[in-house]
Amino acid sequence: MRIYLRLALTATALLLAGASSGWTQDTEARGQVVYSEQRCALCHSVGGEGNTKGPLDGVGSRLSPEDIRAWMVDPKTMTATTGADRKPPMRAYPSLPPEDLDAVVSYMLSLKTE
Ligand code: HEC
Repeated sequence: MRIYLRLALTATALLLAGASSGWTQDTEARGQVVYSEQRCALCHSVGGEGNTKGPLDGVGSRLSPEDIRAWMVDPKTMTATTGADRKPPMRAYPSLPPEDLDAVVSYMLSLKTE
């Protein structure tokens, strides 16, 4: 129990420290790092780099923030509701820290069509 409390406090402290040092402006950049760390490019491409069967260019113009987040946290439902049939299917990222999830969502949102 104790350890969880300590983890929660540490996470909060990190978040607060981050927010006050311009973390919000860097969120998109962090999201790009998460995107490459999590190897999203195995199944997706941005600007022609990666797996071009799953281009994410313009995804920020096509999808709402809620839908992008839903793809990350509940891809099974999104696959079913959109009828996506590409294989392998989108996987979930249950162990991604919440701030990394936020970051990758804002990176996705930055991918707009001109
Ligand atoms: C194992 C393959 C795979 C991996 C890894 C993967 N995805 Fe996906 N993703 C898919 C598939 C399949 C779809 C369904 C749409 C399609 O066919 O591209 C999808 C859909 C999406 C969508 C909705 C796209 C749209 O055009 O509607 C987003 C956003 C997305 N993925 C982001 C990510 C991010 C960010 C990562 C890394 C954290 C990631 N994906 C990792 C396979 C994958």
